[in-house]
Amino acid sequence: MAQKNGATLRIGVVGCGNISTAYMRNAPLFGNVAITACADLDTKAAERRAAEFGLRAMDVDALIDGEDIDLILNLTIPAAHFDVSMRALSAGKHVFTEKPLGVTADEGRKLVSAAAARGLSLGSAPDTFLGAAGRHARRQMETGAIGKPVTGTAFMMGRGMEHWHPDPSFYYQPGAGPMMDMGPYYLTMLVNLLGPVRRVQAVATSGQEERLITADGPKKGTTFKVGTPTSVLSLLEFECGASITFGASWDVFRHSNHPIELHGTEGSLRLPDPDNFGGVVAVSSRGAPWRETDTARDLFGAVNWPVAAPDRANYRMLGLADLARSIIEARPPRASGDLALHVLEIMEAVLRAGETGAAQTIPGTVAQPKELREEEAASLLT
Ligand SMILES: NC(=O)c1ccc[n+]([C@@H]2O[C@H](COP(=O)([O-])OP(=O)(O)OC[C@H]3O[C@@H](n4cnc5c(N)ncnc54)[C@H](O)[C@@H]3O)[C@@H](O)[C@H]2O)c1
Repeated sequence: MAQKNGATLRIGVVGCGNISTAYMRNAPLFGNVAITACADLDTKAAERRAAEFGLRAMDVDALIDGEDIDLILNLTIPAAHFDVSMRALSAGKHVFTEKPLGVTADEGRKLVSAAAARGLSLGSAPDTFLGAAGRHARRQMETGAIGKPVTGTAFMMGRGMEHWHPDPSFYYQPGAGPMMDMGPYYLTMLVNLLGPVRRVQAVATSGQEERLITADGPKKGTTFKVGTPTSVLSLLEFECGASITFGASWDVFRHSNHPIELHGTEGSLRLPDPDNFGGVVAVSSRGAPWRETDTARDLFGAVNWPVAAPDRANYRMLGLADLARSIIEARPPRASGDLALHVLEIMEAVLRAGETGAAQTIPGTVAQPKELREEEAASLLT
């Protein structure tokens, strides 16, 4: 199955739940990668996906140890990320994991060092920053459209999960909450555009001590206790000198904040929801009206998801295709374990700042991922 630019990475998926369909559907778009097998604690789930996508359903251990598997794609729940990824690295497999890298920065650090010690590649979602909107925004930053970045805002706000998810209490416990669950999309995009964060401050609160499940299901009408802050307002100081306000909240019914705005010495840049790969990016030069660019016509920007009624661009697998290429080219992957660890350290520091009221220095740092130019993005396709 050799393809252009070298060997194909043979991928085994562990975790055949909701998000696995996006990866399995998108994989054939890309060269250098082939999902060949899948496994899940729930064997029926693995069999279902195997039948749907023409894969081999396997036992989890057999898949991780499989001689004909080069990389484990870890799509399990966050609490299982560390164990599955560490087990795969110990078996000599490269790893790409869904976010977060681990549920604590300590777990993340152990994974990053285990991969480095074994000379294996470690990558992590989100890879949305490599999508059409992320690339367009990065190009604006690289060409100086806003000059030197000075300040900005990022807002992830909503009402939470209990109105659509039948059993949502896990979203409201330590390791989740709006910061840990959604923060990776916003923070990864910001680090992609501005480089690493050096210090954070935060105030963290919760609008309600208990939440009522209104989604249909056996738990409808019952309540559960909230165990982690649901409104976190943070101040992020970047090494480049820019400072950003980042608000993450599940206590908001309606709002008018843009997902991300950056303001620099020459202008302003506005980004769409960093949980998606496409959307409208806008630039204003020294106060001129916003110049909007719909990135739907760019590579990995066309609306394709959900399949039945698409309203957004979802090209999950793009970061893994870049990782596969990075192995061939002996360079770091863009959606790397190091980047995910830095983001995890930021989120943990924000929550600690919220608890203690004291500013927190981020223990590690990371290099800004190399810009993904259009030609290279196109070369990742089959
Ligand atoms: N659902 C989404 O829209 C979405 C979007 C982006 C990212 N994610 C991330 O993707 C990951 C998975 O989310 P999901 O929605 O697919 O969850 P899910 O609960 O639908 O699926 C997870 C699957 O992993 C399996 N599993 C759990 N522990 C395991 C273990 N130790 N070994 C093998 N299998 C195990 C479960 O049986 C389940 O089938 C999470 O980290 C989540 O944050 C989800």
